[in-house]
Amino acid sequence: MGIIVAPSLLALDFADVKSSLKTIEKSTATWVHLDVMDGSFVPPITFGAQLIKAARAHSKLFFDAHLMVVNPRHLIKDFAEAGSDAITIHSEATSTLKGDIEYIKSLGVKAGVSIKPNTPVSALKDVLALVDIVLVMGVEPGWGGQKFIPSTTAKVRELSEIRNAFKKDCKYSISVDGGVDLLTSLELKIAGADILVAGSAFARSDDKKAFVDALSLDIANITIAK
Ligand code: DX5
Ligand code: ZN
Repeated sequence: MGIIVAPSLLALDFADVKSSLKTIEKSTATWVHLDVMDGSFVPPITFGAQLIKAARAHSKLFFDAHLMVVNPRHLIKDFAEAGSDAITIHSEATSTLKGDIEYIKSLGVKAGVSIKPNTPVSALKDVLALVDIVLVMGVEPGWGGQKFIPSTTAKVRELSEIRNAFKKDCKYSISVDGGVDLLTSLELKIAGADILVAGSAFARSDDKKAFVDALSLDIANITIAK
């Protein structure tokens, strides 16, 4: 499997979501990352299922919904029905993580779990065999454009090692969100990342296709001829 690049809507124009989706499609990325913020788990509020439903009518991109929401259970069905292809919730935001993940899966949507920079991988031990995606935050959630926190890479490596050691049970993809750019993407890919979420680095690149091409290049599998 190659590397998936998921440009984030957060860094693009909310006032013209249709053309923001077109910008992503033109870049050849196949995913769009949708940052849902509730003003409680994180200070800002962005958008909810209604916007996702409206956007769904205009795009065939894979909708990767990232719920930065406290106690997300009661909202999950809305996000699934709105057309999310994957729903990722935060381990820190719920006391019923396993049940919430099982509920997402029961709706026929890919289920993801996310950890903030100070949350260890061990917090996920009960759900690693259930989830489709583990999303490792490279910055404190809430805002785009922050500096990548270097300890993120070790967590990606740890998740990759766990997956290798428990191949039969753990089939998750490893996603990284926050501070991903051309430079940080290199160490993340070597560490085992499969999905790279890019907000500001995507938005500010002049040649978005070249940016997506560079991020998608699976350098971990390149062998250099002598
Ligand atoms: C932050 C969001 C990210 C954000 C990343 O809380 O979860 O998805 O869009 O933005 P950059 O890539 O600018 O760090
Ligand atoms: Zn996100």
